[in-house]
Amino acid sequence: LELDLINAIGSADSVAAVEAIRVSALGKTGAISGLLKGMGAMNPDERREQGPVINGLRDRVTAALTAKKAELEAAELDARLLSERIDLTLPARPRRKGSVHPTMQVMDEMIAVFAEMGFAVAEGPDVEDDFHNFTALNFPPKHPAREMHDTFFLKPDPATGERKVLRTHTSPVQVRTMMSQKPPIRIIAPGRTFRKDSDATHTPMFHQIEGLVIDRDIHMGHLKTTLTTFMARFFELDDVDARFRPHHFPFTEPSAEMDIRCDRSGGKLTLNEGTDWLEILGCGMVHPNVLKNCGIDPDEYQGFAFGMGVDRLAMLKYGIPDLRPMFDADTRWLGHYGFSA
Ligand code: PHE
Repeated sequence: LELDLINAIGSADSVAAVEAIRVSALGKTGAISGLLKGMGAMNPDERREQGPVINGLRDRVTAALTAKKAELEAAELDARLLSERIDLTLPARPRRKGSVHPTMQVMDEMIAVFAEMGFAVAEGPDVEDDFHNFTALNFPPKHPAREMHDTFFLKPDPATGERKVLRTHTSPVQVRTMMSQKPPIRIIAPGRTFRKDSDATHTPMFHQIEGLVIDRDIHMGHLKTTLTTFMARFFELDDVDARFRPHHFPFTEPSAEMDIRCDRSGGKLTLNEGTDWLEILGCGMVHPNVLKNCGIDPDEYQGFAFGMGVDRLAMLKYGIPDLRPMFDADTRWLGHYGFSA
């Protein structure tokens, strides 16, 4: 029996085979277990003689099983280490990390400044209807002003004939806010806007931040202070040298464009220096018709509004010369401007 077991153990080729032999010898109904049980029926003399023989057999078989199992496990581990070996000479794959787009970076900077000044963020849809994008904002019906924005129109709805538009500015969010909130109102509305336009400083999709303040006794002075304070903080200057030039928008009266004094000699832009003026946004006092269209009494409330191009201000702040590559999704370009998450 011992020779058979030791031979079998010697030729076992897996941990599972060793285990099968252990069960056949030392398991509940195993051969050696049978012998051990048989000792109970022996008389004392027989037991004294056979006991050490049977116990010795059990100990030697157990030791052989343990040794074989350890040997096989070591071999299995060696085989695994060999097959799983890591080739350290293989060049590592480059790890590509995402980064924040300059426009979004600047958008976040602007929102942070306005948030400190007490503005809440409001939103509206990119696909607008004529009412919110034009009519409520006091664009006269059939007026060329509707075409002035180079509007993208969607296909008319076959049932109603209604023609939706991709919003040409963030001003429709003024309307949505005034129709859904009671004054006092102090919001900014950042978002995407669309116009049929493409050159170094225009792309068909761009970004604006709208601002709207409605309360009692709001006047042009509030508008000027809000915008000059904002621009100084945004450009990280103590102060900005700004001027407000009369302009026309259907939804504000009076309307103005804000310029910052700058120097552009040598292809470099420096703010607050020189004799040039850089146009940066449109603004004005909310037109009484707009207030009325939104259910606000112009005799009780006044307000101001402004809208600025986020991408354009990103170009100015970070010295980016051409707007178009901003939306080409070229990671080399993004890397060049050093924006990272
Ligand atoms: N909506 C205007 C534009 O896109 C900007 C503007 C907003 C002007 C609010 C006045 C008040 O050009």
